[in-house]
Formats: sequence, structure tokens, C-alpha cells
Amino acid sequence: MLDIQNIRNDFPILGREVYGRPLVYLDNAATTQKPRCVVDVMTEEYLNVNANVHRGVHYLSQQATDLMEAARETVRRFINARSTTEIVFTRGTTESINLVASSFGQAFLSEGDEIIITEMEHHSNIVPWQLLQSRIPVKLRVCPITDEGILDTSALPGLFNSRTRLVAVTAVSNVLGTANPIKEIIAAAHAHNVPVLVDAAQAAPHQAIDVQALDCDFLAFSGHKVYGPTGIGVLYGKEALLEQMPPYMGGGEMIGKVSFEHTTWNVLPYKFEAGTPDYVAVTGLARALEYVNAIGMPAIQAYEHDLTQYALEQLRQIPDMRIFGHSRQGASPVEAGEGCGIGSSVISFLVGNIHHLDMGTLLDRLGIAVRTGHHCAEPLMHRLGIEGTVRASFALYNTREEVDALVAGIRRVATMF
Ligand SMILES: Cc1ncc(COP(=O)(O)O)c(C=O)c1O
Repeated sequence: MLDIQNIRNDFPILGREVYGRPLVYLDNAATTQKPRCVVDVMTEEYLNVNANVHRGVHYLSQQATDLMEAARETVRRFINARSTTEIVFTRGTTESINLVASSFGQAFLSEGDEIIITEMEHHSNIVPWQLLQSRIPVKLRVCPITDEGILDTSALPGLFNSRTRLVAVTAVSNVLGTANPIKEIIAAAHAHNVPVLVDAAQAAPHQAIDVQALDCDFLAFSGHKVYGPTGIGVLYGKEALLEQMPPYMGGGEMIGKVSFEHTTWNVLPYKFEAGTPDYVAVTGLARALEYVNAIGMPAIQAYEHDLTQYALEQLRQIPDMRIFGHSRQGASPVEAGEGCGIGSSVISFLVGNIHHLDMGTLLDRLGIAVRTGHHCAEPLMHRLGIEGTVRASFALYNTREEVDALVAGIRRVATMF
């Protein structure tokens, strides 16, 4: 059992008020709050260690470099990568996917090749491929979802052909909360010799990730969604693939030798880390992952599952409530089978004809922070036949009392219309 009050004490922001009311922060799928230890380790680094990494012969530079490389090892362990050479620091999931689109595209794709994505992708797993299309006319094939908001995996076999070069799929939908059967998708793609990129932005905060067990070829996540700082993220890539891919950006650190005639590249992972990295954020990210590990991902997952089920039960009692996804309510990850379409800690909803923005704005006035709109998933909104939703998303520090506040807030807003 998690000691939630103790955990909440680690997050000073949770004690603040907005509009004179206690903050109920339910926008964790957008970004999570930061525990004090993450802020402290970054403050300490700026105040007492700060120096550019990998460059200086001097003491501080060496110390900053050691911190950064120790952090890379922490990330490696967090996702069980084989080697730190497979851990590339980026600015976030978005940059990680853009890196793969650009660099994998250049190395492996030519006109007429195909990439499979899904109908529930975030824009950051759609638009990078469209940008690539302007350079190399590749074709996007889209795996549909069912009316229940679950990936229609029965359509997947029909999407593969001799031109398929990559599958890029989200592990968990940021709108529906649906957890996709990633392992099976990877196995199916590999049967066609097609590599798979997993967008783990919404998975990393809520479930253990083992890239070797999954056998994924690329995996991306953002630090700020897993209690770490903004502006830092991770791209995992299998070494054999990363070795064959050209650099994404050019500049300092990513080079071997430079002359005006010819430049060679640094070894992995530095080939993909041009310029001064955000080494302080890297250390903050590692501290966040250690924080999560100390609490324990299985305990976090069980707690959040219980909280989400409670929220679903309460929300479903509200008249005219429409919840998108979560059709297999009540099933635990074990009962439902791993990655079987059950929802994670994200609940998207609409109430009657109340516009999502009105609901979000009025909830905000009650101190309840939710997200509204299309959640960077416009094609999914089209599929659902709506413009947007209200989205409540939970983290390890949220409580049943906060769910009650949300439900009471929605009921109160509903009476105003
Ligand atoms: C599923 C998914 N993919 C990608 C992203 C993009 O993450 P970032 O903005 O941190 O790069 C998000 C952020 O909301 C997301 O939910």
C-alpha cells in the first residue's frame, strides 16, 4: 500500500490553493508535478557542480559529465536496455520521434515505402511522418480503432505488405487511456521483418517498461510526464539500427573529426546528441526515475488502477455522462490479459451538451485542473465524431477525495446549464 499522504508531502505544489480553493491537479497526462527531490538535485547541480559536460579537463566538467553518464545508466535500468549506448537524450517524446522519422527515414526509406500508425496517435506520432513525406514520398497506413476505443488489431495483418518499413504505435492513448497490446504488435511486425517504434509517453509514468522483453526497436518517452523536469526525454534505439542511421542534427559533441572536406561521427549515443545537452535536466530525470523506483512501479500501477476504477464508477453515475474508451471496466491488467485494451489513468468525457471548454473553465474556478480540447489527437476526435473532450488524468499522488471533488464539481457545473 502506498502512503499517499507521505507521497503528497514530497510535492509542495499539491498544498497550494487556486482561487482560494485547494488545488485538485488532474492534468497529469499533460505533465506531472515534481517531487522536491527532483528540484533539489537540479538546484544542487546548478549551485555547486555546473560546468559544460564532455568538454573540460577541469574538475567540475568531469563531475557534471559523471552525473550525466550515471543518469544515463539510471535510464537504461528503468527501461532495461542492454547498453547505455542505446539511450539517447532528447528534449522529449516529440523530438525522439522526429529524430527517428528523419534519420531512420533517410537511412531506410524510399518512395513508395509504407509506415503503419494507428488512429489513436498523438500528433507527435503523425506529423513527423508527414514532414518526412515532403522529403521522401512514403505512405502512411492507419490501423483503425473499434467503436469501443480499442485498437482493431484484426485489421493489422491486412496493413502489412512488402513495402512496410516501420510500425509506429502508442503504448497508451493519451485520450482514451487504452493500453495497446504492444508485445503482440511487435511480434506481428517482426514476423514481417518490420521494426517497431513505441510511443511510451503515457506508459512510462504508469507501468514498468522492459525494452528487451518487448523487443521493440525504438521507444520514446518524456521526462516531464514521469515526475521529471521539462525539456528532457529519451529515445531508446537498438544499437544495430542506431549505428546505421545518420545524425539528426550537426554540431558539437556528435562528431569524430571535422574538416571542411569531410566529417566523421562520434560513437553512440553521442552521434545523436549534438550541442550542449540539458545535463541538469538529465540529472533531474534520473532522480525522478529513482523516486518512482523507490515507491515501486507495481504498487503505483495497482494504486492508480484502483483510483481510476473508482473514478469511472463515480463518473458513470452522473446523468448524461459520456466516457470515451474504458469499455472493459472493472478488469484488472491481470484479469484482462496484458495490454488487452483496458484503460489506464486517463478518463475523457463529455456531459450532455456542455462544451468541453465551458466544463474545464468552470471546474478550474472550483480549483480542479483538467485538460480540455482535442488533446493533440485531432484524427481520433474525427473518428469519435467530436471536437474535444474534458480529460481527467491521475498520478500516483491523487486521491479518492480528489475524485469526489471532481465528481461534485461536474455535478455543480451541470446544474448551471
Ligand atoms: C501519447 C503521447 N505522445 C507524445 C506526446 C508528446 O510529448 P512531449 O510533448 O513531451 O514531447 C504526448 C504528450 O502529451 C503524448 O501523450
